[in-house]
Amino acid sequence: MKVFEKHVFVCTMGKTCAEQGGEELCSVLRQAVLDNGLKGKIRVNKAGCFDQCGHGPMVVVYPEQVWYAHVSCDDVSQLVTEHLIGDKPLERLLYDGSGRLDKTKKIK
Ligand code: FES
Repeated sequence: MKVFEKHVFVCTMGKTCAEQGGEELCSVLRQAVLDNGLKGKIRVNKAGCFDQCGHGPMVVVYPEQVWYAHVSCDDVSQLVTEHLIGDKPLERLLYDGSGRLDKTKKIK
């Protein structure tokens, strides 16, 4: 069986990401993967709490181990194009362990 090139984990079951839209984000990401012909290459999985509650919805992409905070459905198109297809992490959403790496950007 072919191994996925990337795994995208979306926190949907923790105590805050679920309330912050994790489930809907996961659905939109899965659809975007299909729409971009990435089925079989990129896998989007629901995940439990990443122990970073309050910064959600949170997303982690492997194998590069890139963490994103406060990802919205509006970010999905750019996330797919730039990171999942282009292999360039989306700087404005990066998580630094305490919040967004880029503190100048407004969180929606
Ligand atoms: S609920 Fe998402 S990190 Fe804890």
